[in-house]
Amino acid sequence: MELITKRPRGTEDKLPKDIYKWHTIEKIAGDVAQCYGCKEIRTPTFEHTELFQRGVGDTTDVVQKEMYTFNDKKGRSITLKPEGTAGAVRAAIENGLLNDALPLKTYYFTRCFRYEAPQSGRLREFNQFGVEVFGTYSPASDAEVISIAYDVIERLGVENISLEINSIGCPKCRAEYHKALKEYYSQFKDQLCGTCLERLERNPMRLLDCKSEICKSFKKDAPLITDYLCEDCDKHFTEVKERLDLLGIKYTVNPLIVRGLDYYTNTVFEFISNDIGSQGAVCAGGRYNGLVEEVGGNATAGLGFAMGLERMIMVMENQNKDFMPDKKCDLYIASFDDESNKYAMKLVKQLRDYGFWAECDVTGRSFKAQMKYANKINATYCMVIGGEEMASSQAKLKRMSDGEETPVKLDDSFVQRLNTLIMEIV
Ligand code: HAM
Repeated sequence: MELITKRPRGTEDKLPKDIYKWHTIEKIAGDVAQCYGCKEIRTPTFEHTELFQRGVGDTTDVVQKEMYTFNDKKGRSITLKPEGTAGAVRAAIENGLLNDALPLKTYYFTRCFRYEAPQSGRLREFNQFGVEVFGTYSPASDAEVISIAYDVIERLGVENISLEINSIGCPKCRAEYHKALKEYYSQFKDQLCGTCLERLERNPMRLLDCKSEICKSFKKDAPLITDYLCEDCDKHFTEVKERLDLLGIKYTVNPLIVRGLDYYTNTVFEFISNDIGSQGAVCAGGRYNGLVEEVGGNATAGLGFAMGLERMIMVMENQNKDFMPDKKCDLYIASFDDESNKYAMKLVKQLRDYGFWAECDVTGRSFKAQMKYANKINATYCMVIGGEEMASSQAKLKRMSDGEETPVKLDDSFVQRLNTLIMEIV
């Protein structure tokens, strides 16, 4: 097949027939985020590469292997964003948002780009709904952020999604933990995969996330971060759990969640679905108290999550969940000739001004073909305009589902009448 009629591997077209699913999830996620006081933020699709190297971390798979990086015409290294957090942090610093009332609560919808091996639920271009909150170290805010994701999932009506949480401590307790992990994994040095050998030196916690069967088998006896948390981090984690209990949010503690991005401190979490195969993480996040400083701002706490929208939609489809119904054409006005078509076009314009979805012929179709089209687009009502209707300013609204006809006057009362009839159907 010609290359120009084939989309790049790992990308998807979101087609008009499915777009109501996207509208559903975007509407619900945005509404929920706003109930928590979050305001939308939109950041560029590309950033300076260094932002992700510093922010996401240059020992991570995302930065080492998966970024879409290129030089622009001036030779600057640019990267398509692989995730939304680093850009939000950069924008908050650059625009002085952290000098305003804190906490600053933001949400976003963004496309992300990662050069991963595509498979079901894993794309090279995908969409995230994310929340980032800045300026609070309190465990109550960890619970609040988790609660946003939880509410979105609940409002979408999705089932069988479990929440797993962990604390990966602060740099202080993590240093001890890294030492213990290094010691433990060193005994298997000659069996570890090449990547893990490197991880052993640079980022031992990532050893727990290796997908290779051999490396995975060592995980079961590995030391657990929860045994290494310092007093403050332990207290923080206990209080997060208490707050989740308070909110009635069910979770399990999984000490093996380490997350694939370097910026996390303390609480990390994942919402997992078992209904969509191996790429079951539909939403993930955590706290990142060092990131704002790392990116160049004043030390400011941060935390958030991102939900993979393609994965959420997959879960909803697999569970036959309801999406918000797609909008339907309210009225199709068919006409016989040029004169009646002009009359119809003016009427349609008036109806559109009132917010109706109204249509008339703009293709030069025959009357019969217009009626066929009205059926095809599933119009709720159809109306015929000819010489008689124009002369008398009267016409008949035909309900397409059962053919029932209602006479209407084509005067000031028309809009109200149509509205009432449509409302009766809804
Ligand atoms: P992440 O775990 O890399 O975290 O991605 C979050 C979610 O995006 C995943 O749980 C998954 O649903 C979806 N996702 C990730 N990669 C793909 C892919 N290749 N194809 C389809 N969906 C994917 C982050 O991105 C962090 N920025 C989350 C965060 C925000 N942490 C704090 N604030």
